[in-house]
Formats: sequence, C-alpha cells, structure tokens
Amino acid sequence: MEKTMAPCLLLSLSLLVCLLSSNSSAELQRFHHSPKSDGSLSLIVVGDWGRKGEFNQSQIAAQMGETGENLDIDFVISAGDNFYEDGLTGVDDKAFAESFTNVYTAKSLQKQWYSVLGNHDYRGDVLAQLSPVLQEIDPRWLCLRSFILNTEIADFFFVDTSPFVLKYWNEPKGDQYDWREVAPRDQYIDNLLQDLDWALKDSRAPWKFVIGHHTIRSVSEHGDTEELVEMLLPILKENGVDLYINGHDHCLEHISSRNSSIQYLTSGGGSKAWRGAYTPNQDSLQFFYDGQGFMSMQLTSAMVEIEFYDVFGHVLHQLNLQKEVRSYFKMIGRG
Ligand SMILES: *[C@@H]1O[C@H](CO)[C@@H](O)[C@H](O)[C@H]1NC(C)=O
Ligand SMILES: *[C@@H]1O[C@H](CO)[C@@H](O)[C@H](O)[C@H]1NC(C)=O
Repeated sequence: MEKTMAPCLLLSLSLLVCLLSSNSSAELQRFHHSPKSDGSLSLIVVGDWGRKGEFNQSQIAAQMGETGENLDIDFVISAGDNFYEDGLTGVDDKAFAESFTNVYTAKSLQKQWYSVLGNHDYRGDVLAQLSPVLQEIDPRWLCLRSFILNTEIADFFFVDTSPFVLKYWNEPKGDQYDWREVAPRDQYIDNLLQDLDWALKDSRAPWKFVIGHHTIRSVSEHGDTEELVEMLLPILKENGVDLYINGHDHCLEHISSRNSSIQYLTSGGGSKAWRGAYTPNQDSLQFFYDGQGFMSMQLTSAMVEIEFYDVFGHVLHQLNLQKEVRSYFKMIGRG
C-alpha cells in the first residue's frame, strides 16, 4: 500500500508546485474574435460612462447605436470607470442594469463588450464586477483586469492600470480601494509588465493596440500618468505598439508621440464631461474636445481609420494609419 502511494504523492506534489509557480506569473488570458469575412473589423470605444443615463450618457448611447449600425460593428470596448461613483456593491447591484443593460439598448450594441476597470470601479466590489454571474444577467458583459483579444488583424492588449497609481495606495483620501487579489502592488506590477512584454514580443498581428483606463499623455484634468510614463510606456515603445487607448479624462483626445509611432487616444466622454482644464505636455496635440463623445475604429490588416464623435453624432476628428506590408516584414525580421 505504502509503496504504491509514494510515486502518486510525488506526482501530485510536483503538479501542485507547477500550479503554484505558474500562478505567480500567470499568462494573460486570451480571447479570440474573428474579423468579418472580408477581413475587416469595426468597433466602438467608450469610457467613463455608468451614471444611470444621466449627464448625456443616454444621448451618447443612442449615438453609439446609430454609429454602430452604420459601421456594422463587431464589438464594443469599455475603457473603464464603468460604474460611478464607487463601482458595484455586489453582483446584485441594480446599477449594473440601470447604467449598462438599460442604457445601451440599441440593436447594434447587442455585441460583446470587452471592458477594463477604472479607478472608480476599484472603489466598489471589484470581484463582483469581474464575476461571471454578471454574464448570466447580461451576456454582453466581459470585464477582466488584464487580458488579450486576438482578432488576426490586430491584437488588443487590455491592461489594468489603477494599481500603478501610487496615490490610490498612499493617499486614498477617504476612498476605499478594493485591492483583494492585487496587493502587494510591486509584485503585481512586475508580473503584469513581464506578461505584457512577453505577449507583445510574441504577437504577430499587423496591429498592436494597448487599452488601459488611465492616460499616458493627456492635456485635460488628470494630465499624464507619471507611473505609466515611467513603467508602461517604455515597453509599448520597445514593442512597436501603434495605439494606446484610454479613458479617465472625461474628454476626447489624440496626441502623437514625438519620438515613436505611438498615438495616444482618449475616449473618456461616456457621460459627465466639461472639466474646463487644459495643460499641454511634451508630446504633440492633434485634437482635444473637452466634452462628451466616443470613438470608432475600422480596420483591416493594412489600415486603421479612427473617428471621434460628439453627443450629436458629428465627426469631430479623424485619423488614418497605414501599415505597409514591407515595413511589417521588416519589423518581424528585426524582432
Ligand atoms: C449635454 O450635451 C450638450 C451638447 O454638447 C451640452 O450642451 C450639455 O451641457 C450636456 N449636458 C451635460 C449635463 O453635460
Ligand atoms: C522621447 O520623448 C520623451 C518626451 O516626450 C522624453 O521624455 C524621452 O526621453 C524621449 N526618449 C527618447 C529615447 O528620446
């Protein structure tokens, strides 16, 4: 009896060690969303929205519905601050229906939503917002801390940026942040950046887009997020990321990096806006709208077309990026 138990015990022990060690730097979870049969993909990005329809959230939602219809969108991205002021209180919080299900009712928005958490979401029960129970209530909902969406023509890397911001840990000023499964901060950030770096180096998609709630560059109220400029930006530059897309500042922005190809895009106009702040930074401001709105993206492996809209659905700014097949192969050759 004892003799046959020993190898079995050893096996389960090594399995346990293996499970534990892979857990300390877990590979980022991956999802797949196929492009349309013509090889294109279109989507909408909205951030900073959940206010039970108030502050023009419902008007923006209606315009998103129309644009979504026109572009035949494949999915929606939420750049975080999904539920104001303090995230969700639990999986049974009525705010989930009042700020999400009952607001984004247009037919074209009945698609998969891919969401990250914002700092306001961290002030509630984060585990509830990440819980699969919400998918039973509204199957569109998918929110994770950090994950990857492969679409063949582009890889979208979603990054949990709130834990980077030191003041949320050191001077929460009466706000409570739910750091369960995150603390300690340093280890969490180290693991995340390493996983992201590996995943970016591994990516063979023509386009690489990174989405996080917090700004890297912004001229509005919150400005640049220094922790991300120091820790995240070098990894994005090193790996040839094309776009960094964020919310956090309640406005629409397009800023170009002066010494890399990165474009910084803010789509944080999902509800309350009009902050009246403007502070330029070192990078090159292309567009700034201090009001409500959202952003659309249409892409193929060769081009990306981005448009910013206001509450009336007017196009305020457009940008087009092209990827030459030649430079794409050059990039792979160097990597
Ligand atoms: C709603 O949008 C309109 C048009 O931009 C703006 O004039 C109005 O102030 C907005 N309302 C709120 C509460 O922000
Ligand atoms: C790139 O520009 C930023 C300012 O936008 C500066 O802080 C950084 O040092 C520059 N990096 C290089 C490699 O020149």
